Amino acid sequence: RVTSPDPTDVHPAWLPPAAFRAVGSRHVLVYGDGPLVDTVLREARLACAAYGGTARRCADGPAAQLVLALRGTPGIAAVVRTDPAATGGLGDEGYAVTRRDEVTVVLADEPAGLLHGLFHVVRLGESAFGAPHPARAYRPVMRRRMLDHWDNVDVHPVMGQVERGYSGGSIFWRDGRAHPDRARVRAYARLLAACGVNAVSVNNVNVHATEARLLTDRLDDVAEIADDLRPYGVRVHLSVNFAAPVMVGGLPTADPLDEKVRPWWAETTARVYARIPDFGGYLVKADSEGQPGPFSYGRDHADGANLLAEALAPYGGVVHWRAFVYDHRQDWRDRSTDRARAAHDHFTPLDGRFRDNVVVQVKHGPLDFQTREPVSPVIAAMPGTRLAVEFQVMQEYTGQQRHVCYLAPWWHEVLRFTPWGDGGPTVADVAADGGGLAAVSNVGDDPFWTGHPLAQANLYAYGRLAWDPRLRPEDVLDEWIDLTFDPAASADPDLLRRTLHEIMDDSWRTYERYTAPLGVGFMVRPGHHYGPDVDGYEYTPWGTYHFADRDGVGVDRTRATGTGFTGQYPPPWSRVYESPERCPDELLLFFHHVRYDHVLHSGSTVVQHIYDTHFAGVAQVTAMSDRWATLAGLVDPAVHARVSERLAEQRRSAQEWCDQVNAYFHRKSGVPDAYGRSLY
Ligand code: GCU
Repeated sequence: RVTSPDPTDVHPAWLPPAAFRAVGSRHVLVYGDGPLVDTVLREARLACAAYGGTARRCADGPAAQLVLALRGTPGIAAVVRTDPAATGGLGDEGYAVTRRDEVTVVLADEPAGLLHGLFHVVRLGESAFGAPHPARAYRPVMRRRMLDHWDNVDVHPVMGQVERGYSGGSIFWRDGRAHPDRARVRAYARLLAACGVNAVSVNNVNVHATEARLLTDRLDDVAEIADDLRPYGVRVHLSVNFAAPVMVGGLPTADPLDEKVRPWWAETTARVYARIPDFGGYLVKADSEGQPGPFSYGRDHADGANLLAEALAPYGGVVHWRAFVYDHRQDWRDRSTDRARAAHDHFTPLDGRFRDNVVVQVKHGPLDFQTREPVSPVIAAMPGTRLAVEFQVMQEYTGQQRHVCYLAPWWHEVLRFTPWGDGGPTVADVAADGGGLAAVSNVGDDPFWTGHPLAQANLYAYGRLAWDPRLRPEDVLDEWIDLTFDPAASADPDLLRRTLHEIMDDSWRTYERYTAPLGVGFMVRPGHHYGPDVDGYEYTPWGTYHFADRDGVGVDRTRATGTGFTGQYPPPWSRVYESPERCPDELLLFFHHVRYDHVLHSGSTVVQHIYDTHFAGVAQVTAMSDRWATLAGLVDPAVHARVSERLAEQRRSAQEWCDQVNAYFHRKSGVPDAYGRSLY
């Protein structure tokens, strides 16, 4: 495990001082009032102190080169010559940027917009001070861009402190209390604001005994975190236990229709808002993997979610109610039960019954953050409900922050997917019209925040894609490289940038190549989920099977002969996925059980594809490692050393995956490799 760092020795991630060079060497004027505008001024002053510029609130002094102004502030007309109305309403967080007469102007209607505008200029660096251009408006596509921390206050005996955490302990909690290192939390808030995240849930969705009390007598701890996040426009949310009325309220029941339970939630929530007036709301995992929920009382998820929503409504709070509900005690012998169907089966009958301030939070795939899954059919099936789409920045099933796996290309693919077919709305549209995006955070108290320094890019990219899902993953990576590595100041900027792209751009597909093939999923070691174990989950109650036998592999989820899951999709996907001929190769084994000699669109047989991709994946990891070695001397030695060490482990692990998966399918099928490579 990574030990807790000296707080003064934390990696600056995408906000090293050099990221502010362009802003800090200018004369900056800030107009407007309020705590977030104060943050803008403080940031500008910090930058200017390092790079010789000036940052001030009034126009006396050197001619401004960068003006950051709230529209409507008295006196701005004298310095802002752009037509302030040119860009229309900018909303709570939007901003407009223009450049003319050697002055770059950022305008916003609300203070949060000004803060996002400042970070926009930081991202642009020198180019923000280049050619003149008319006003361009930027508004977030998703209103709520949330990170869910799976942090426990206490150290859990099996999971450690952060459930599925690969970056050390929690930055919020230490020794059973709010973490004493507040500077770390403030630094986090700043990083989040700079990539666009605006909401954080501060504890694990599995709410254990101590954590249940955050809602009541431990509320001060939550308030402290809220105080640290607020200056950067980030609101706090809390995971609550559905049985809280019993666990911490002393009531005999948590039945949502009980006459004492309703007032208990109302009063408890009133106390939360009295202490944290901008509190965001509750996040709930109910009737899922052993967590309590409305089912125990014969009620459904709408009854449960509406109970909490009603308590939050007077304050504008929301309930994020997770749709990750399935039977984790199923019988593996029963081929008709299909975990992939569960969320749709449970939630779509409730469409239209949820209050306005309920957001049903759906994992992007029907299973569980696998390396490859189809988009969850729930996303297309609840037009009368606000939906949020959930990602996992934390790399539980994608190398656990020991492997390089840049996830933005995958999220981008999911966000652009059109559940009703070409030309229809995208997943991003559904989330934008509903509850936005949520993702499980990957940070901890590791000195690099994320264990693997290159995993910082996933956090950055999540925020950026939540702000604007149209951004291209490689452009987002470029932004991240510019901010984090300052290539302009390096001895070989091209080599640095090109090498990072070569290592990261395709790293998710590389990971896919050497792990579970063709969308079949899992094949990981049960429990901790790291490394290969092809049959590890095959005869367990978890509903995660591949059904490999001597003739073939894959899960028959068709309507014709399988579990009927394909019928949960609207056309055209219900038809595309139903057909082994039309189903995309990368999802073939998710939807179909096929023979090993089944020929893919690529022209290869299934079994030869498995061999080829596994060998290729290992070769690509070796190439990554060699490439990284060429960056010695071009990046911070501590980062270089940490990444080198992780790449060595990735290389070892990829080889292990390759050998086990290939040996497994060779032994099952008896089919030799067409190229005679060793299969053990
Ligand atoms: C996964 C993960 C669990 C987590 C669960 C969830 O199954 O392994 O640790 O609690 O997802 O999303 O609730």
